[in-house]
Amino acid sequence: MDAITNLLSRNSPRELTLPFPSKEDMHEIYQAALRAPDHAWLRPSRFIEVTGDGLTKLSKAFVEYAKNELKDVTPMQMDKYQSAPFRAPMVIILITKITEHPKVPKIEQMLSTAAAAENILLALHAKNFAGIWRTGKFAFNKKIAKYLNLPSDHEIVGYLYVGTPAGASKKIPELDVSKFVTRWDK
Ligand SMILES: Cc1cc2nc3c(=O)[nH]c(=O)nc-3n(C[C@H](O)[C@H](O)[C@H](O)COP(=O)(O)O)c2cc1C
Repeated sequence: MDAITNLLSRNSPRELTLPFPSKEDMHEIYQAALRAPDHAWLRPSRFIEVTGDGLTKLSKAFVEYAKNELKDVTPMQMDKYQSAPFRAPMVIILITKITEHPKVPKIEQMLSTAAAAENILLALHAKNFAGIWRTGKFAFNKKIAKYLNLPSDHEIVGYLYVGTPAGASKKIPELDVSKFVTRWDK
């Protein structure tokens, strides 16, 4: 698949199933992630790759966080949090390690991780795998890092659910570019 076709056809499938990418594939995928733009080369992005029993560990962390930090969680919501990591055979936790820097604010470091996440999605698609980017209650907050045994300067930017696409394929919407683009040429 050429690069533009890969960009135009990437999508988040309805379901993700086995197999997940091999170690060799993931090595190349992380290399692609680490090619994301990165102001001052701070190398802010970190990834935790969760598979197998690791998914149970992640599920337990979500439940503990929900029990201790969220208010008015219904049993149905708690079930949803508990089962969330099992929606795909692999989950990549997207993390930004925040560095104090006179020219590079925290937001730029997090945006670099976001760019890395998109590189991962595109690299997965190029290899006939897929990912779904999710955030929800377990991202963008100071407290969740502790439940994942991370230092306090690590911020969770989101979760990529990864596997082989399954289910009916999605129709990719055709957007009218002219509604989104303004040109200044004089
Ligand atoms: C930062 C970010 C956070 C997202 N969080 C969620 C989420 O928590 N739940 C969800 O269903 N989709 C979430 N999405 C959207 C999906 O990942 C996906 O992009 C969307 O369903 C559109 O599908 P497409 O990628 O096939 O166009 C998020 C996207 C981004 C960029």
